[in-house]
Amino acid sequence: MSQHDPASTTPESGLENLLHETRAFPPSEEFAAQANATAEMYDRAKADREGFWAEQARDLLTWSKDFTEVVDFSGAPVARWFGDGELNAAYNAVDRHVDAGLGDRVALHFEGEPGDTRTLTYADLKEQVSRAANALEALGVKTGDRVAIYLPMIPEAVIAMLACARIGAPHSVIFGGFSAEALHSRINDAEARVVITADGGYRRGKPSALKPAVDDAIAKGTPVEHVLVVERTGQDVAWTEGRDKKWADALAEASPEHTPVPVDAEHPLFILYTSGTTGKPKGILHTTGGYLTQCAFTHKYVFDLKPETDVYWCTADIGWVTGHSYVTYGPLINGATQVIYEGTPDTPDKDRWWEIVEKYKVSILYTAPTAIRTCMKWGAEFPARHDLSSLRVLGSVGEPINPEAWIWYRETIGAGTTPVVDTWWQTETGAIMISPLPGVTAAKPGSAQTPLPGISADVFDEAGRSVPDGDGGYLVLTEPWPAMLRGIWGDPQRFAETYWSRFEGKYFAGDGAKKDEDGDIWLLGRVDDVMNVSGHRLSTTEIESALVSHPIVAEAAVVGAKDDTTGQAVVAFVILRSDALERVDEIGEGEDVVAELRAHVAKEIGPIAKPRSILVVAELPKTRSGKIMRRLLRDIAEGREAGDVTTLADSSVMDKISQGMGK
Ligand code: WT7
Repeated sequence: MSQHDPASTTPESGLENLLHETRAFPPSEEFAAQANATAEMYDRAKADREGFWAEQARDLLTWSKDFTEVVDFSGAPVARWFGDGELNAAYNAVDRHVDAGLGDRVALHFEGEPGDTRTLTYADLKEQVSRAANALEALGVKTGDRVAIYLPMIPEAVIAMLACARIGAPHSVIFGGFSAEALHSRINDAEARVVITADGGYRRGKPSALKPAVDDAIAKGTPVEHVLVVERTGQDVAWTEGRDKKWADALAEASPEHTPVPVDAEHPLFILYTSGTTGKPKGILHTTGGYLTQCAFTHKYVFDLKPETDVYWCTADIGWVTGHSYVTYGPLINGATQVIYEGTPDTPDKDRWWEIVEKYKVSILYTAPTAIRTCMKWGAEFPARHDLSSLRVLGSVGEPINPEAWIWYRETIGAGTTPVVDTWWQTETGAIMISPLPGVTAAKPGSAQTPLPGISADVFDEAGRSVPDGDGGYLVLTEPWPAMLRGIWGDPQRFAETYWSRFEGKYFAGDGAKKDEDGDIWLLGRVDDVMNVSGHRLSTTEIESALVSHPIVAEAAVVGAKDDTTGQAVVAFVILRSDALERVDEIGEGEDVVAELRAHVAKEIGPIAKPRSILVVAELPKTRSGKIMRRLLRDIAEGREAGDVTTLADSSVMDKISQGMGK
């Protein structure tokens, strides 16, 4: 079977069970009676898709200039939404709530890992964002300039994003877990002139530095002229006079008044890098009007948000798209009160999250299956220490959720009554695409189920035909949607090839999927060379490139192997260079080589990409055309007998690998 056959690459994370799951949880009458969503929305959107989205755009956003066009796909695959409208994202997220008399409403309850807290109202946020926008302008940042953001999960992360949006300067947030090397390539690809960073942030009970990575990245050569540094941990940092400036000083000098710059609906809002199937990360480009419309729409209806009474908490870091759409933009556009937490869930103890839920009376929680499975493993005693009765909606995102974890989430965290929404989407889709609607859908554990109103998805077979109910294939998105990516930064050809060439004119998501007998969609994991580790997207090729960049490695193959907690884990097979083998005395053997290579991957990409295990092998299984057969390596990594080896150029290779493992 080919690499792209979903049946050969899935199930990846205990999904066998998922396909036998038959339970369904209809909404309670009480919930349905108060729900934002209605079944009728599907019909309305079906009858007039464009009219439906135009209505959402006007209902949920404030436009400085109204639009007359809705969607224009004549420049496919690049769509335009609300193309002749004008608006400002920061105005929509902040100012208009203050103007509406809601300045005293809490926007952010910040909980630092060491236990320090800060509360920012919408009025506070407006002042901070305005000062930051003025500070950026004072550094020469203009509409259209790119700004890189490399920060921990502190209020300044949200403030920095909105300050960029306020002047129409697209931000490029780089996850704090990425290395200087990764930072360097992303800064250069986006040609960012300013970086906003911090001395460090708190993780696992201690300060973890960020600024040194920025210094190292810039030392390698970048167009960066200024670095704004938030003081968070008080760690010692190197300082480059004239280039580096303290965030606090810059904001103190700046005026608290700033007029948001109205931009075209299609003005770039941000670039966010994500792993693809090649070694080079893709700069996913999102624009303003359509993106914000779908973020606000999904946040309101999928989470049933009642901004006056709910306390919402999404545990994602702003370094990922979930943090963009469901920490910064969706919730603030909707005027929500939310919690942001800086640290890890087990610091100081394994009940930290539940302590936070109790303390702030969190009513909507949005997290990832890997976190749910980790909490399951730790045991119910930790959530049991706290009153979680404020919770009323639970969300999941990042990878398929296995029915056991889904049920545990609903029972143990949600007292057996809260709806659970399994939300499928991607960095590229910008916002949630497939999900149950609480109060409407009878939820099935493990299935994202239904494209949202106004969204069109299908499952295609190899030949591009819609599969009948009961069959599996590839997930495709069949109509343009408001928050869709507008391209890959600087690489229109890669954009067309990656997403639009597999099935002519339809968006290929890269996920395997199945329709059940009711036509509900079950996601089955990636069908390409992209891995999903703890809901984070990693490219096999990117890690392979990192490994072969080490002088002792001749060749490398990386696979995602099933892992009970993280969904998938990175397993690498490497062939060492013959001269390295001769020098084994100097470089050490076995363990040392493995430790050295793991550290090397952390340095090249970031600690999140470190392989769980590295096996030194003499040869790799390849087809006659030289393609590495990762399917066979996955068999080994998952402890199975290797499957069909008949297409191997040398069928004895697998025996050698099995026999020589670890040597
Ligand atoms: C990939 C996108 C969307 C924000 C976080 C990840 C997988 C995501 C689900 C889900 C099954 C899911 C897919 C997708 N994925 N959510 N609910 N069920 N799979 O964003 O890093 O762009 O990754 O995550 O494989 O393609 P991302």
